[in-house]
Amino acid sequence: MLHRARDRARVAGLRSVSPGTGAALRLLAASVDAKAVAEIGTGCGVSGIHLLHGMRPDGVLTTVDQEPEHQQSARQAFRDAGFAGNRARFIPGRALDVLPRLADAGYDLVFCDGDRQEYQDYLAESLRLLRPGGLVAFEGVFANGRTVDSGPQPTEVLRLRELVRTVRESTELVSSLLPVGDGLLCVVRR
Ligand SMILES: C[S@@+](CC[C@H](N)C(=O)[O-])C[C@H]1O[C@@H](n2cnc3c(N)ncnc32)[C@H](O)[C@@H]1O
Repeated sequence: MLHRARDRARVAGLRSVSPGTGAALRLLAASVDAKAVAEIGTGCGVSGIHLLHGMRPDGVLTTVDQEPEHQQSARQAFRDAGFAGNRARFIPGRALDVLPRLADAGYDLVFCDGDRQEYQDYLAESLRLLRPGGLVAFEGVFANGRTVDSGPQPTEVLRLRELVRTVRESTELVSSLLPVGDGLLCVVRR
């Protein structure tokens, strides 16, 4: 079923998480015994399927995307993958409008795959959403190698570098940039 979701994403011109990143997401969701996960950037549902596989069988994925048609596609992908309708809550809208409406300390894991320029804001919102010991993961932090390239870079890349610096310098956070896919920055709130 994953291949169908990947094909739909390709047709829609969307990047989906790589198989390696998907496997890591599944592992991370299982390792925090996730009952509640928030995702920014539903896309066509590839990352969501991996997260749902790693979560508890009664866990609910809350997934946010500004494009309702992407969410329709993901809804179909979750159904095709055999997940009951009540395993996912789809919220259409811009991440920074929706996240403030989600419950404080109500989530075990947050996965960020929306607008790279907003990742610092997603971090601030995630730290409010996560329970102590919860985990936030950011997709695409290598930016195809540009994050570590010393040449001039666009704002998006400079923002990603700032994000890496922020989490490394924080005494409240434990982080690791996993070399899967295009770089998955994982951050645990102590
Ligand atoms: C790379 S795709 C997500 C792929 C998905 N996580 C997967 O692996 O299947 C990024 C998605 O984020 C959505 N998006 C981009 N900026 C956003 C924002 N500011 N708020 C909400 N969604 C956003 C896009 O519409 C798109 O569906």
